[in-house]
Amino acid sequence: MRLIPLQNCSQVGKWAARHIAQRINDYQPTAERPFVLGLPTGGTPLATYSELIKMHHDGDVSFKHVVTFNMDEYVGITADHPQSYRTFMFENFFNHIDIPLENINLLDGNTGDNDAECQRYEAKIKSYGKINLFMGGVGNDGHIAFNEPASSLASRTRVKTLTEDTRIANSRFFDSDINQVPKSALTIGVGTLLDAEEILLLITGHNKALALEAAVEGSVNHLWTVSALQLHPKTVIACDAPATQEL
Ligand code: GLP
Repeated sequence: MRLIPLQNCSQVGKWAARHIAQRINDYQPTAERPFVLGLPTGGTPLATYSELIKMHHDGDVSFKHVVTFNMDEYVGITADHPQSYRTFMFENFFNHIDIPLENINLLDGNTGDNDAECQRYEAKIKSYGKINLFMGGVGNDGHIAFNEPASSLASRTRVKTLTEDTRIANSRFFDSDINQVPKSALTIGVGTLLDAEEILLLITGHNKALALEAAVEGSVNHLWTVSALQLHPKTVIACDAPATQEL
């Protein structure tokens, strides 16, 4: 595991964007051999998305031959809901780059058959062989994607009930009203994430300090699902100074 300690979240965003662009450019993707990129939502990756958009406009990176898979999606809100992860991704990233629509993969929390949807998603990932680089964030309690505390570290894509803590944390996007926050979500599993060739985790802010400690110094355990990244041979964590206060 590599830890990249930076001063603030803007530096983390710039570092992460350059890292991703470099991986895509080094890979020299084509239509037949696309670069497969896993992506998160949340406040943390916003600076990375802005920087990638800027780099794209400056001609430094193209997403024409990049295929994306998002980590998770709420169950119980419509795809065009302002807080759906689909809406988030199009508004903050996809609408501003040259990625073809058919290269974008998102979980759908409205099919009526969550198990079938999760199996479809796993099969689609497998059809590309592997995810080349999976970027992720982390919850205050150390959850990755929506793999809440006590998730199996071997888990695959499935439906998860959200904890009260997660719903409170995410209520800031729902008029600070926890009753509007969905109670469950579809999420890639910890095992799905660990299958990626490389994982890039972004951890910023003092409220993530315990999660960073668990990721780097804690024992591998299913109560802090982020700790599973210690089992992965190629994980990079980019963090800011406030996140390091428990190290
Ligand atoms: C949600 C998402 C996670 C994300 C986490 C932290 O729970 N499912 O993927 O990492 O929020 O989000 P933020 O970056 O806004 O703190």
